[in-house]
Amino acid sequence: MNRLIKKALEVRKKAYAPFSNFRVGAALEAANGRVFLGCNIENSSFGLTICAERVALFKAISDGVKKFKRIAIVADTKEPCPPCGICRQALFEFAPDIEIIMANLRGKKKVAKLSVLLPQAFRLKNLLSGR
Ligand code: THU
Repeated sequence: MNRLIKKALEVRKKAYAPFSNFRVGAALEAANGRVFLGCNIENSSFGLTICAERVALFKAISDGVKKFKRIAIVADTKEPCPPCGICRQALFEFAPDIEIIMANLRGKKKVAKLSVLLPQAFRLKNLLSGR
């Protein structure tokens, strides 16, 4: 777990966050042991901003990896930083039971299952049952 947090801390330094100054790092561990890293990337057209978690996830998916064990998320917050709603939904698509490790720079951490952070999530079966 600490190894993953360290990687998230490291990639956080690469965040492009000139608008919010809120830097986030994420390290996503795949079932095969590979680790995909992401940082938040903002844009002057604010809506284009993408969170660290989705950068890591999309890097993995585009590399053909779709099974995940855990993700570490690090930000400079008082309490460990929870993933936003969009990132919860994005992760749920591939890993509804993924372990979310939330950490801050002060060494505090929390761990929760995604299924607890995003109960009753919208999923493929809901989409299909509407057809
Ligand atoms: N952010 C993340 O990278 N992950 C989250 O889960 C929450 C928010 C980023 C997006 C934006 O660049 C900045 O933090 C402030 O919202």
